[in-house]
Amino acid sequence: MSENKHLLEIKNLSIHYITNDGTVKAVEDMNLEIGTGETLGLVGETGAGKTTTALGIMQLVPNPPGKIIGGEIFFEGENLIGKTPVEIRKIRGNKISMIFQDPMTSLNPVMTVGEQIAEVIKLHQSVNAKEAIERSMAMLEKVGIPGERHKDYPHQFSGGMRQRVVIAIALACNPQLLIADEPTTALDVTIQAQVLDLMKNLKKEFKTSMIMITHDLGVVAEVCDKVAIMYAGNVIEYTDVKRLYTSPKHPYTIGLFGSIPDINDDEDRLKPIKGLMPDPTDLPSGCPFHPRCPKAMSICSERKPLNTEIEPGHFVKCLLFEDGVK
Ligand SMILES: Nc1ncnc2c1ncn2[C@@H]1O[C@H](COP(=O)(O)OP(=O)(O)OP(=O)(O)O)[C@@H](O)[C@H]1O
Ligand SMILES: [Mg+2]
Repeated sequence: MSENKHLLEIKNLSIHYITNDGTVKAVEDMNLEIGTGETLGLVGETGAGKTTTALGIMQLVPNPPGKIIGGEIFFEGENLIGKTPVEIRKIRGNKISMIFQDPMTSLNPVMTVGEQIAEVIKLHQSVNAKEAIERSMAMLEKVGIPGERHKDYPHQFSGGMRQRVVIAIALACNPQLLIADEPTTALDVTIQAQVLDLMKNLKKEFKTSMIMITHDLGVVAEVCDKVAIMYAGNVIEYTDVKRLYTSPKHPYTIGLFGSIPDINDDEDRLKPIKGLMPDPTDLPSGCPFHPRCPKAMSICSERKPLNTEIEPGHFVKCLLFEDGVK
């Protein structure tokens, strides 16, 4: 397929939750690409739409209330939207796997960790029970857990170790794409660093492409090649990591990084921005960021900004950067 130059290509994707309180436009007209071996960071405040994006790619948006309103998600050149449940099950957990936001609850407490890894392997590969256990022991070793611990249950591991088990499960089938939803937030700082190092090494070894969802700009600087910054369902800036740090353009991105972005800054948490996230069922008119934006112009409340490519590979959704607006 001629279009298939990227492993994953999201085109004009919109996902809404339709509830009694109103419609939440959780993802609006999203465009992103990920190449083989590349890591994309998905960054934004709570409620920005990061997990919903991941669920969309996994075809796991809860319906109702969620619904993919429009757009396409090409994986290896094929649109995942519209595939049958049987077709999707062959891809999910096999070619695309996900580490969920709350990893502690994603393990089964009454199965040994070895059985849980083996289950994934058996589901997608034709191996017998003995081979599956051997491979699950090898997977444990890869994430730094002695293979003989495959007989242990989740409660016998510490939080950091359990997260390693979750990673072992996610990587058991050598997926082409791994989506990690805040994989280290629940862990303490030293363990966070260890798990991140582990993920970086595994990514190198397996050449897995990754989507790393995070609030932590330190994580972005350390593991990501490209970054998409989300605000109220919109990717408001999207470019490679270096440009994001040296030349952020969207007023929201500049706010997040503080006035002097520094890739080596110890202060790597998102900076709080003046004002509150808007009510997701009642977004401001025009650009949803305009009430909090220090550079807002009168037109910003009147019309939505277009996604503008300000230099090759650097996209900004902001009226300041649209030709003929100022
Ligand atoms: N099942 C649901 N029903 C209704 N609204 C939902 C549902 N799931 C998410 N939302 C809403 O969709 C928006 C995006 O949520 P999402 O979980 O994708 O955000 P997020 O960026 O992952 O946030 P966080 O950083 O807190 O994990 C929010 O306004 C949220 O309240
Ligand atoms: Mg989330």
